[in-house]
Amino acid sequence: MTQAASVGPVVAITGAGQGIGRALARAFARQGARVVVSDIDGMSCASAASELQALGVPADVTNAEHCAALVERAVAVHGRLDVMICNAGIMQLKPLLELDGKDWDRMLGVNVKGSFLTLQAAARQMLAQPPLADGRPRGKILLMASIAGRSGAGPIAAVIPHYRASKAAVISLTQSAAVAFAPQITVNAICPGLVETDMWQRMDRDWSALQGVPRGQAWQQRVAAVPMGRAQTPEDVADLAMFLASPAADYMTGQSINIDGGLMMN
Ligand code: NAI
Repeated sequence: MTQAASVGPVVAITGAGQGIGRALARAFARQGARVVVSDIDGMSCASAASELQALGVPADVTNAEHCAALVERAVAVHGRLDVMICNAGIMQLKPLLELDGKDWDRMLGVNVKGSFLTLQAAARQMLAQPPLADGRPRGKILLMASIAGRSGAGPIAAVIPHYRASKAAVISLTQSAAVAFAPQITVNAICPGLVETDMWQRMDRDWSALQGVPRGQAWQQRVAAVPMGRAQTPEDVADLAMFLASPAADYMTGQSINIDGGLMMN
């Protein structure tokens, strides 16, 4: 069944309980998408679903059965899955010499394996469903990487080696998946810079404890380095996600796009 023009695309988002994921969910819902919000935190997942009158499916992205169930629920309710946004992620600040194998496994478990399992579950469904319209891809997958996966600039880079490695792996996964699933599915990654969410608040708190500097200092220093003169909002990220999910980006695949106010250029 080809999607009727009046019905919005079905867009599933992991880590949508708060922060960037929640902003993505709001932005897609405002555009008329049939949003499916998912998060490991059942309370925030339910709150996002209730706010947006959307389907909420709690899921831990490190669990393959949860990822498959997320896709199954989306399809059971909405009939198909047009866009999957693998956004769930974690961050930890710890000097390289203090990192242990558990820290490493947890970080790569959520950020890399979690992205892989969500992407795989979504791709299985998208490859099996008819295209949106003749000549258009059957689905689109967006992964949430980071400029941290590209560059080591800034003092904090030294204490997030496992986070940086995880986001570099997400960029690589994007390229492999784009080739594997073309032309049926496009796969692209978003690389935000400095987004004011709980993740950054926690990072600022931990940096302050580690370095013995006042709270807020790390944040202010990084914002001062942004050529565009301000921190990024989750809505800035949502604007890029909506473009990548739109027909205007149908020919783009395998790309990892910085949206960082020029921070990487500094
Ligand atoms: P956040 O910490 O505010 O939100 C992350 C969400 O992911 C939370 O709702 C959390 O419950 C969920 N989550 C964590 N582990 C999960 C799991 N195993 N399964 C399902 N959900 C899980 O973080 P924020 O800032 O919204 O980040 C979202 C994404 O954007 C992450 O992948 C992050 O690495 C990336 N990013 C964030 C930047 C920033 O400056 N805040 C910059 C670049 C990338």
